[in-house]
Amino acid sequence: MIKAAVFASGTGSNFDAIVKASEAGGIPCDIQLLVCDRKDAVVITKAEQKNIDTFVFSPKEFDGKDAYERQILLECRERGIEWVFLAGYMRLIGPVLLEPFKNRIINIHPSLLPAFPGKDAIGQAFEKQVKVTGVTIHYIDDGMDTGPIIEQEAIRITAKDTKETLQQKIQAVEHSLYPKVIQSLLVEEEVH
Ligand code: GAR
Repeated sequence: MIKAAVFASGTGSNFDAIVKASEAGGIPCDIQLLVCDRKDAVVITKAEQKNIDTFVFSPKEFDGKDAYERQILLECRERGIEWVFLAGYMRLIGPVLLEPFKNRIINIHPSLLPAFPGKDAIGQAFEKQVKVTGVTIHYIDDGMDTGPIIEQEAIRITAKDTKETLQQKIQAVEHSLYPKVIQSLLVEEEVH
């Protein structure tokens, strides 16, 4: 069984979707660790309820990104983590983690990249009044939401949508698409 970590900063609905899929046998991996950069994040409670180890840190308590990423790397190595799934982790990943996890860190983003990168992608799409937005899953590189795209799913924005209903539609797609993409990447890896 492949060992994986989820990095998250917020509510953790995608964390939940991934953990549920792994518990149900839908994806061939064990989520062994949650890495979280906010001590008040709701996702921490979700991990504790599932008895998943957490590494919760405050970046300002470290001497820069390299220092906290070295600690994250240590936490991952201690548990034999092979893959990292970013699920609302609102920080760029630096070389300390990118090099050892080359092509093994993926991210979910709530827009059809390269449109609307960065924060509040749903709000950005809503304000621009685009008619189609969606969800992207991509490999991480050193840019902001710029790595190679693995999968995308489009969502129509209708005249009736509010930012809230759009967010609900996007999250519903995220919760089914992320486990599916993880499943196909890991199965491909097991075959090779
Ligand atoms: C998700 O919609 C995810 O796509 C987004 O944060 C949300 C986290 O929700 N990620 C980004 O915007 C990354 N740039 P969750 O905590 O409920 O999973």
